[in-house]
Amino acid sequence: MTKVIKGGTIVTADRTYEADVLIDGETILEIGENLKGDETLDAEGAYVMPGGIDPHTHLEMPFMGTTAAETFESGTFAAAAGGTTMLVDFCLPGEDGSIRNAILEWDRKSKDQISVDISYHMAITGWNESIFEEMKFAVDRGINTFKHFMAYKGALMVQDDEMFASFKRCAELGAMPLVHAENGDIVAELQQKYLADGVTGPEGHAYSRPPEVEGEAANRAIMIADAAGVPLYIVHVSCEQAHEAIRRARQKGMRVYGEPLIQHLTLDESEYFDKDWDYAARRVMSPPFRNKEHQNGLWNGLSAGSLQVVATDHCAFSTEQKRFGLGDFTKIPNGTGGIEDRLSVLWTHGVETGRLTPEEFVAVTSTNIAKILNVYPRKGAILPGADADIVVWDPKATRTISAATQKSIIDYNVFEGFEVTGLPRYTLSRGDVVWAAGQNSQPQPGRGKFIPRPAFPAPNKALSTWKALTAPRAIQRDPLNIPSGL
Ligand code: URP
Ligand code: ZN
Ligand code: ZN
Ligand code: ZN
Repeated sequence: MTKVIKGGTIVTADRTYEADVLIDGETILEIGENLKGDETLDAEGAYVMPGGIDPHTHLEMPFMGTTAAETFESGTFAAAAGGTTMLVDFCLPGEDGSIRNAILEWDRKSKDQISVDISYHMAITGWNESIFEEMKFAVDRGINTFKHFMAYKGALMVQDDEMFASFKRCAELGAMPLVHAENGDIVAELQQKYLADGVTGPEGHAYSRPPEVEGEAANRAIMIADAAGVPLYIVHVSCEQAHEAIRRARQKGMRVYGEPLIQHLTLDESEYFDKDWDYAARRVMSPPFRNKEHQNGLWNGLSAGSLQVVATDHCAFSTEQKRFGLGDFTKIPNGTGGIEDRLSVLWTHGVETGRLTPEEFVAVTSTNIAKILNVYPRKGAILPGADADIVVWDPKATRTISAATQKSIIDYNVFEGFEVTGLPRYTLSRGDVVWAAGQNSQPQPGRGKFIPRPAFPAPNKALSTWKALTAPRAIQRDPLNIPSGL
């Protein structure tokens, strides 16, 4: 069974050209003029781009005494509706601390629910012999990235020596560490200070997590990664202090990647000062939204290449769950959504404004992510042999974002009222149409697959070669020139 996407303009990370795309089963067979297939999808007036990859989601994740309300079923369908064909979810060890059991649990939760493909990052939330051993099990299972929380003291947070040990293990295994960069000790003290001062509302969340605590942690993680000889990926980069650390490290030849979120690019700290408690609490996430100057810096980083990818950190809680933090902002479950709207909001605020070219849009929403996470060109590419994960993007279609019409099951949307231009006409996941605008598409639970990501041959190989060449060595001296010491 073949399909042809006809009459569109292909946009990839490096070029834009007019051609048809012929799909055979799950993969792209041919790209060219006047192609024919058993079925035709009309792409006249549309761009044909690699499906979005969201490198950072938390579906059904137990966190802060509750569980993120977006399910694998609703989350992957919302992704498809927004043009995203793969997401990388954070797998979190449970009470027993076992990585192996966490993977089994994530497989169990996801496999019968997912409409599009997924992959996992593994969280390292402590350090011992069995975690050291089980990291290999994870890599063998196709998980080549390990996340470390430098915040959430008393819960997920790890110490510097634990991070260093885990980063060295990553280097050995050909894996890459990820960090949530915030100084958790200082955040915990600032939280207590603001509570004691009588600041109990959501604004206290923003006050207790200033940009400096993020910048300090980003610098520290970069130093630890350098000492361990491993690349580093910093998730949800929200401020100039963290961006500056990444820029400086890259300029020094270190392999450090930075991931801003669509939320931080478009929403600012004034959201937390809203008089409506629910409104403000629904926007509580870590790091918090920042001011416009930080936002501008993030946009500039995307076009300059000092920041490489745009994610959502989709970790969505209902209003009822957010209300666990009434009277104490430290108990508001941290997290916001964005999985369904990432592409259209980025297109509208990035491409429509001229901050990003269409090719840069593809790079930061798909291709760069696939390369950094080592699934390119299976994902993130429009090339013969690649998975047919494709979005047929209608740059003229418009929508007003609203919880009332979204596919996500959350009762609000942090982008409520945003007018977006640019929406998927079709979303294809491995050749299947999983979303067709205006055609009453439904979730297809169970058709999505887990996509293993093999250990890195590069850039770890390049980095370790360079590290070996430049490692400190004992100086060879003529024994006659060494004093006897007697
Ligand atoms: O507030 C956030 N970001 N919640 C999700 C967990 C995390 O820190 O990534
Ligand atoms: Zn044409
Ligand atoms: Zn985080
Ligand atoms: Zn996250």
